[in-house]
Amino acid sequence: MEREWWKKAIIYQIYPRSFNDSDGDGIGDLTGIRKKIGYLEYLGIDAVWLNPVYDSPNVDNGYDVRNYRKIMDEFGTMEEMEQLIRDLHDRGIKLIMDFVPNHTSDQHRWFQRSKTSQNSEYRGYYIWRKGNNGEPPNNWQSLFGGSAWRYDDKTGEYYLHLFSEGQPDLNWDNPNVREEFYEIMRWWLGKGIDGFRLDVVNLISKNPSLPDDSTDKSTNPGSKYYVNGPKIHRYLQEMNEEVFLGSDTVAIGETPFVSTGEASKYISSSRNELDMIFHFDFVDFDRANGGLWELPRDWDLTELKRIMTKWRDVASCHDGWNATYLGNHDNPRIVTRYGNDGKYRRESAQVLGTLLLTISGTPFIYQGDELGMTNYNFSSLDQVKDVRTKKGFEEMKQKGNVDNFEEVEDIVSFWCRDNARTPMQWSGEEKGGFTDGEPWLNVNPNKNRVNVETEKLDDNSVLSYYRELISLRKENDALIYGDYELILEDDESIFAFLRIGSKNTMMTLLNFTSEKTKLCLTKKETLRRKELLLSNYSVKSVDEFNNIELMPWEARLYEVCLNDKN
Ligand code: GLC
Repeated sequence: MEREWWKKAIIYQIYPRSFNDSDGDGIGDLTGIRKKIGYLEYLGIDAVWLNPVYDSPNVDNGYDVRNYRKIMDEFGTMEEMEQLIRDLHDRGIKLIMDFVPNHTSDQHRWFQRSKTSQNSEYRGYYIWRKGNNGEPPNNWQSLFGGSAWRYDDKTGEYYLHLFSEGQPDLNWDNPNVREEFYEIMRWWLGKGIDGFRLDVVNLISKNPSLPDDSTDKSTNPGSKYYVNGPKIHRYLQEMNEEVFLGSDTVAIGETPFVSTGEASKYISSSRNELDMIFHFDFVDFDRANGGLWELPRDWDLTELKRIMTKWRDVASCHDGWNATYLGNHDNPRIVTRYGNDGKYRRESAQVLGTLLLTISGTPFIYQGDELGMTNYNFSSLDQVKDVRTKKGFEEMKQKGNVDNFEEVEDIVSFWCRDNARTPMQWSGEEKGGFTDGEPWLNVNPNKNRVNVETEKLDDNSVLSYYRELISLRKENDALIYGDYELILEDDESIFAFLRIGSKNTMMTLLNFTSEKTKLCLTKKETLRRKELLLSNYSVKSVDEFNNIELMPWEARLYEVCLNDKN
């Protein structure tokens, strides 16, 4: 197995708008990030994935790019970007840029020209179609709600937008579009960045006949015609050849709706497509009826274990590699979602951190999760900035499903993407130390307790624990390259697994409940020697494995000896 840098890297995701504001306009910026490189070093991470920083009108916070070769004014200048790359590299930290190939902003020069006439040389850059007797060309729905088509008066046709109207979809079947993108990507790599996270990359190839989706009650009508579309693998192989071949960079694809079968094609190293993908099984599994307008359904730990295990198997069977993430800028805060953000906030955030950093695959830590940051309780729509929530709410209202915000307050408070986007909590100051101005999104009131300054001083904090986990992962090859083996498969309270390396074996034990729980290792799992490497409780003596009781949300990491192996 090749041991590329990104296999052993611990990657930290920065949402620049909410990380650190250096000029008091209430919006995070590049200089703000530069000022916190010391913190990244202190944490011990190896690479940063930066959400989009390109020039954008910000309909979808940078995922609507107006100019791929310019930095968004609020974030800074290209000189500051180059300085950031240099400063990170000087401290041994790599930089992965977010890249948005599926759509541009409707203000992008290409779209502006494409709109001027049906004969524009840029018309074929996007997906324009005639209507169907006064109706949109087909019944596809936008992933943000409503029809995926928008009528344009001037030229009398509709354009496709799988996301907001301000994000028209590009036509990847047009070789000029592909060449433009490869050129831009090479230009960025020329600036010394270390790779890309490719936004919704498995949606770029659409079935060219754009058929109506007749699937009964499909949650996302149209998706079967654009998810892993007909030429997706060809385009990714072409991109690999044109952009990545022979370089030491990484390509990570964000791939919603991807099945394990399809995933193996994306990540199998011999196919030269992507190095890793972000699948959605883990972050979508608790949606009730697949949607975001209901509270999450009840779930059982065994489901979560099965998902995690299934994906480990895909990677190992197909000579691929996993990207592990529990949360990001599109999802609720992990401690609120999978943990307990009340009485056991600290402990459960530590359990989740242990899962992320001891399971196989490259771990992606989302900013603030290393502090145990929680969801925000939104009490009015004015507090919400997320386009997905706003559009979804409008649609619900239009359909008569809801009259006012109070009816969906709990649902929005759980799912809204702004939960993960509230400003980073650096200190207990009024604005959480994030800005001297008015933050673009409210700071979570729990900043007084949950913040970097306070947690740095506390050896038991979530932050201190993450630092230990990070350094343990770096010191132990078994945690990086070791085989993954799930134990106690049917246990509904404890998530336990082994990482079997060539020299040693690690065992992770995680109590996912707020109760004390007895651990019952069966014979098969009887282990010989053991050394406790880490726990989030003070474990006094090293117990016998058959007599262990885990405290609520307790995490333990052991080095063990298997009876039949090392
Ligand atoms: C991805 C991004 C999300 C964005 C969407 C459209 O899912 O993570 O934030 O809204 O793509 O670009």
